[in-house]
Amino acid sequence: MLQKIGIIGGGNIGGVLALEIVKRRLARNVALVDIKEPDLAKGKCLDISEGTPVLKNDINLMGSKEYDVLKDANMVINTAGVPRTAKPDGTLPSREELLTTNLKITDAVSNGISKYCPKAIVISIANPLDAIVYRLHMNLKIPKQRLMGMAGALDSARYRYFVAQEAGVSVDNVEAMVLGGHGDDMLPIRSACRIAGMPVEKFVSQEKLDAIENRTRNAGGEVVKLLGSGSAFVSPAWSALDMAEAIIFDKKKIMPVSAYLDGEYGVKGLFIGVPVILGAEGIEKIIIMDLSEKEKEAFKNSVTSVEKTKNEVLALTK
Ligand code: LAC
Repeated sequence: MLQKIGIIGGGNIGGVLALEIVKRRLARNVALVDIKEPDLAKGKCLDISEGTPVLKNDINLMGSKEYDVLKDANMVINTAGVPRTAKPDGTLPSREELLTTNLKITDAVSNGISKYCPKAIVISIANPLDAIVYRLHMNLKIPKQRLMGMAGALDSARYRYFVAQEAGVSVDNVEAMVLGGHGDDMLPIRSACRIAGMPVEKFVSQEKLDAIENRTRNAGGEVVKLLGSGSAFVSPAWSALDMAEAIIFDKKKIMPVSAYLDGEYGVKGLFIGVPVILGAEGIEKIIIMDLSEKEKEAFKNSVTSVEKTKNEVLALTK
């Protein structure tokens, strides 16, 4: 159990995070900040607090529209940003289109973290994922082990779910790894997809796998369209908590996360999804996977897309 986890953004993801952190007893104190809606964070925290006697746990929740509530948090999960909501003409903004708005929000978030909890491990969920983490890196200047983005955990969970459905087996039997940026050219690594230790192709045809991988790449948008307003929030929150638990319990768990590459995979100075070992120190090691030539090519394409957005981030820096 940590002393304190801070959650930034009191929207849907922030709400599920607060609820789950309390249910799972991950921290003695939970702080929720939402700067937009004056009383939203307070309201969400009061609602959960009033239920704690029923859960029989004594976790303190603090909701505020000010960042000072984050004081001394050991871990911060950043969700602050505008989600992908369908435009009036029915089309979806790309994750990149959210960039300009969400960068401004991220600068405020960075100030809050730097001022009140500079030692925290930071997990960021806001989109466009890899670019926002890059901006946090520029602003926070904290060791690269302590800053990461949540995308691969969610994308891999989606891949696992679709494969399990198709194969007619438990989701628990399916292992998967989705790498690259959290965009349309993310890479589900087929050779890493196993069902109870066996290659996925034993259970699912190549054609079906192609379709599943395509659906995985577009899975965020599929949920946005169905919901009508806002984006997926339960599975992203749970995926971020999978990372948080790996860190809190020092599990040394191998998961794909958006990590700062410093030469690994032939990439330097970029956050992108790769497998890492997550433990008490945060990202304890980056794992180099053996990729096929085709996968290497696809990873390169994803790097190019993420680099493009990173360059936009740099261009939008005063
Ligand atoms: C998604 C958003 C959260 O993939 O990026 O659903």
